[in-house]
Amino acid sequence: MKHKKLWSGRFENLNAEITEKISASINFDARLYRQDIRGSIAHASMLLKIGVLTQEEHGKIVQGLNEILAEIDEGNFEFSRSLEDVHMNIEYALTQKIGDAGKKLHTARSRNDQVTLDLRLYLRDECELIRALLADLIEALVTKAEAHLDVIMPAYTHMQVAQPVRFSHHMLAHAWALVRDMKRMDDAIASSMAMPLGAGACAGVNYPNDRDFLKEALGFSSITPNSMDTVSDRDYVLDFLYFAAVLGMHLSRMAEELVLWSTSEFRFVRLSDAVTTGSSIMPQKRNPDVAELIRGKSGRLYGNLISLLVTLKGLPLTYNRDMQEDKEPVFDSVDTVKLCIEGMKEMIAGMEVNAEAMRAAVSSNYSTATDLADYLAQKGVPFRRAHEIVGSIVKHCEKTKTDFFSLSVSDLRNFSDAFGDDAADALNPISSTERKLSQGGTSLREVKHQIDAIKKLISKKE
Ligand code: ARG
Repeated sequence: MKHKKLWSGRFENLNAEITEKISASINFDARLYRQDIRGSIAHASMLLKIGVLTQEEHGKIVQGLNEILAEIDEGNFEFSRSLEDVHMNIEYALTQKIGDAGKKLHTARSRNDQVTLDLRLYLRDECELIRALLADLIEALVTKAEAHLDVIMPAYTHMQVAQPVRFSHHMLAHAWALVRDMKRMDDAIASSMAMPLGAGACAGVNYPNDRDFLKEALGFSSITPNSMDTVSDRDYVLDFLYFAAVLGMHLSRMAEELVLWSTSEFRFVRLSDAVTTGSSIMPQKRNPDVAELIRGKSGRLYGNLISLLVTLKGLPLTYNRDMQEDKEPVFDSVDTVKLCIEGMKEMIAGMEVNAEAMRAAVSSNYSTATDLADYLAQKGVPFRRAHEIVGSIVKHCEKTKTDFFSLSVSDLRNFSDAFGDDAADALNPISSTERKLSQGGTSLREVKHQIDAIKKLISKKE
């Protein structure tokens, strides 16, 4: 249905169809309706407090807005494109419902301060949900770690076998990255915690708006200090998009490992049927599509951040309509991040760990060569020299096709007199992990310590 524009007073002719089409944001910003109504109710209460609204007008507005909220919740509300956006649609419906009192709601307010309020509230609400999902994923990683504390696998550098580590240590490495993501999300929220209403269109408003009242009513921690900056600023949106991009990168790296580990060449893990898919032609296939899609979706998360940065880059102060282009990237990043966290949680929780395959990989690739060099260093051989000796042992094993782990003490003595009877233990991958004495290393003590620390951090956030 066509509506007369709420701003049409100074116009003689109607907008072209294309103007309406390109201006309208209602098909995506309708999702801000809850925050828009929450903001409008607080604004109405402020207007009552400063004497702009009577008690009766205020009552009608609040009741009308609550009815509209219920109608939208229940799917009984018709949004109209000719009313452009969520703000106009709700204001128009309110006036239809309660008459002239509805027309007073927009006193001392502009859509420019209204839209940034809605977006701040929206991100705060969504981040609460994202925090719970992230906590679940971190918990799934910790649970996997606890269930396989003693499983040993190779750690890789350059994708070449490096040193033995506990599988639990590897799971926790990913968990710590997600703990940092949570902190980054909290920082993004902190930058959205200043209350913008009262900036008006750009210069402030001709009323003594009680901005502190609004700050309290809407749960903000401060009020924005400059009206021009208030309607121009989308830093808090960028902060959120950056958080989402970095989280996407972390999830993509985890996904890549799951793709690799579930190959028949690695067989380190088996992903559950719940998260693998078949092929339309090859009957034997179990493809890790969920992992691949999480890896793929990091691209759109980066794109959303770049898209808004580029949109904002050339804009003069203050509000410019270009800024309406902030919404779709944000909404897409919110949806994508939620999908990816849930998908990753499902994969981690349901994956089977193949301790045998991990042990085979750690046992056949000289993973304890560094331990053997350290053994010599502890016997007084300078580390550089020890490195060279062990290098020649590896060369010997390769040439003679001897298993590194089956070398006897007398074999080792051919390379250095410093090898004693206890040398064989230096080659053992399990004792290798326990020799990692440093804080944050892969010893059982340190892994348990990390589990406790992460559990504490997560329970504090919830
Ligand atoms: N829908 C607009 C946006 O998302 C808000 C309205 C501001 N519009 C205006 N013409 N000043 O940015």
